[in-house]
Amino acid sequence: MSTLFLHGIGLLVTNDPATRGAREGDPLGAVRDAALIARDGEIVWVGPQADAAPQVARLLQGDVERVDAGGRAVIPGFVDSHTHLAFAGDRADEFVARMAGDRYAAGGILRTVEATRNASDEQLRSTLQRFERELASQGTTTFEVKTGYGLDVEDEERLARLAREVTDEVTFLGAHVVPPEYADDRNAYVDLVVGPMLDACAEHTRWIDVFCEEGAFTVDEAERILKAGLARGLGARIHAGQLGEGDGVRLAVELDAASVDHATYLSGDDIAALAGSNTVCTLLPGVEFSTRHTYPDARALLTAGVTLALASDCNPGSCFTSSMPFVIALAVRELGMTPDEALWAATAGGAAALRRDDIGCLSPGASADLVLLDAPSHVYLAYRPGVPLVLRVWKHGVELRVH
Ligand code: NIG
Ligand code: FE
Repeated sequence: MSTLFLHGIGLLVTNDPATRGAREGDPLGAVRDAALIARDGEIVWVGPQADAAPQVARLLQGDVERVDAGGRAVIPGFVDSHTHLAFAGDRADEFVARMAGDRYAAGGILRTVEATRNASDEQLRSTLQRFERELASQGTTTFEVKTGYGLDVEDEERLARLAREVTDEVTFLGAHVVPPEYADDRNAYVDLVVGPMLDACAEHTRWIDVFCEEGAFTVDEAERILKAGLARGLGARIHAGQLGEGDGVRLAVELDAASVDHATYLSGDDIAALAGSNTVCTLLPGVEFSTRHTYPDARALLTAGVTLALASDCNPGSCFTSSMPFVIALAVRELGMTPDEALWAATAGGAAALRRDDIGCLSPGASADLVLLDAPSHVYLAYRPGVPLVLRVWKHGVELRVH
């Protein structure tokens, strides 16, 4: 039995308002001068350090790792619910052109498709492993990975299979764009996606996603594709409202999708539909940063009662950051979210977007996925942007190498 006893925590964010010692009604369930005990990968006790003594006597037997946080903050590990990390090649030239005034368009995806198809399994595997370490070193303990740079049966299958080696949260995104060989017959491509491609990918994936946007897939196509995935037991998610308003949000809510992602352009009806639904709205402000696009209106969404997640969207085209602290800083500076709202969205919000209740919070029974910050509070993630504040990281109670 392995036990972790983390004490001397200046501020412990649990995301559980019922935590002993938390301020009444605080969604972060934050406790000052706190301690935490995890056993065999799960949280077994959290609360004020002053109350820890009986728990320590009861729970701390056998092999115990004792860590003194020295008054620093401890937060749940980040849950990055939207990435496209299974790819080869880079598109730095497009970034340079955008910074000089070019607009982002979906077409660039095909350059990555070509590089990815030409990469070996070994190259893709080592890229995914490098990203796994890169994310961990920035405090991300759970991340989703999408396919979508293969766009034929064999390549989509291998992206799903290789992604599955680094995460349980793999999404089939055969409907990213229509590949060149189907440019004159997009219906045949949709047939392929809902038929042989879905057949090949389903066993490796938990989710199905569609890029529902001008230049990618229409809402009717998205409906057919998502329904095919749902019929195979996958959960639905959607890219919608990235470049303009559309019917993607309405469709997502109708299908009880776990998440609508991007949501930069939303109508009042979209916001009302999201507010009355189980569908999380995942904002990806790194994309607006990297495309010089207008940022979404997080405040309007929060005021309406929509559940928000923040994610990186790390991909070689529209946004090549894997840093959740950077995303939080953008959310506070550019989306008008408070540091508390941004932290919640990057942890509990991401967990909700993946329909998980075992991560994104530090209450008894949850996975011991946590980050020790070299800072007195999570506010520093936005207050000290760009500074490496992630000191130590544990996933399921096991410390990850982050430096
Ligand atoms: O989420 N929007 C669609 N897919 C990615 C971009 C992929 C790319 O440009 O390579 C996104 O932004
Ligand atoms: Fe994306």
